[in-house]
Amino acid sequence: MDLGLDARQEETRAIAAELAADLLAPAAARFDRDGGAPTDHLKALGARGLLGINVDPRWGGRGAGVVAYVAAVRELAAACAGTTVGMMVTNMVAEAIQRFGDDAQRDRYLRPITAGEWPAAAFSLSEPGSGSDAASLRTTATRDGDHYVLDGTKAWVTSGGFAGVYLVTARTDPEQRSRGISAFLVEPGTPGFEVARPEEKLGQHASPTCQLVFDGCRVPAASRLGPEGVGFKIAMSSLDGGRVGVSAQAIGIATAAAACAARHLADQMQHIEADNADRQRELADCAIEIDAGWLLCLRAAALKDAGKPLIREAAMSKLFCTDMAHRVCERALRILGPDGISGAHPVERHLRDVRVTRIYEGTNEVQRIVIAREVLRAMARQA
Ligand code: CAA
Repeated sequence: MDLGLDARQEETRAIAAELAADLLAPAAARFDRDGGAPTDHLKALGARGLLGINVDPRWGGRGAGVVAYVAAVRELAAACAGTTVGMMVTNMVAEAIQRFGDDAQRDRYLRPITAGEWPAAAFSLSEPGSGSDAASLRTTATRDGDHYVLDGTKAWVTSGGFAGVYLVTARTDPEQRSRGISAFLVEPGTPGFEVARPEEKLGQHASPTCQLVFDGCRVPAASRLGPEGVGFKIAMSSLDGGRVGVSAQAIGIATAAAACAARHLADQMQHIEADNADRQRELADCAIEIDAGWLLCLRAAALKDAGKPLIREAAMSKLFCTDMAHRVCERALRILGPDGISGAHPVERHLRDVRVTRIYEGTNEVQRIVIAREVLRAMARQA
């Protein structure tokens, strides 16, 4: 089994590493302090093919696959996790349009996304009253001739306010639960569609997160993504891939935090005659766990590349990697001692940035539900 990257995957990783070093890393502390939208950086990622890494070149994508994608995400997230989540959600939406859209939708949306003409695409599933129980969403899409009328409020939308297109889930059949949900591609500027101001968050300040308000918003029926009633499946299967990306993002953050701690420890060992055994053990545990997470992430990515089911493996990878990355950041903080909590040190930012990876794209409690269901289903199939 070859766990390395092939030439195409390595090319994608190297481009991400270059942009991470040249653009994202120098601006990360500023975005963390001042907030704002990294639209120029996201467009630069798009111009180098990183907003459609797993999108077919026919539609302007890089066509490099999911292993290449996670390798790129890991590099970018080590530099600026907030900018990276905008990139990740854009890739997720681009893939959903490629998979579930018709040619007119692919033509209209994939080209500007993959060329970096738009800084981002957005994904909108959660609502103020429905997060983990996503199928209970209450936004409605009511058919009116050759249009639908959208009414409701969506919450926690990454890149809200500057995305070129929003994938929005809404209820088209109030009598049904998940099968009553459809997906729509909504363009900014559509009358009746407003974006509220960004939320104030613990971390990932380079990623504006907003509420969307739909009030009698008329969208053409042709903007529906896939058939009526399959919006929940579109969202869930998109999130399977999204969770592999979140794993890589968390690994990137952990890698950066552990590298800070290792540099500090190496420096101290040169200058101070102290017993560093405890801190060396902490560092060793970081290294082991980061590698273990990367293996889970690569397995899920390789399954997706092979077109095989990955629900269980994506959830396992997301759960392990994000919990692991939080532990690694805590350990890095302990290795650094009092310096660790100083805002002058990036580990303090990494610790704040990593927390939400355990929450978004399905909380880690939800991942346990998904994994347990898949284990039981597999057992029932064998019986
Ligand atoms: N792929 C395809 N279809 C799927 C699926 C998947 N991964 N998971 C479920 N489905 C299908 C089922 O097969 C079922 O289909 P049928 O009706 O044909 O049988 C249907 O969807 C309903 O499935 P469930 O009965 O399992 O649905 P549920 O209501 O019990 O779901 C849940 C439970 C797994 C907890 C789900 O609600 C869930 O994943 N919640 C978390 C939501 C989430 O991840 N939100 C993230 C928001 S986006 C975000 O965070 C992005 C960001 O900004 C960074």
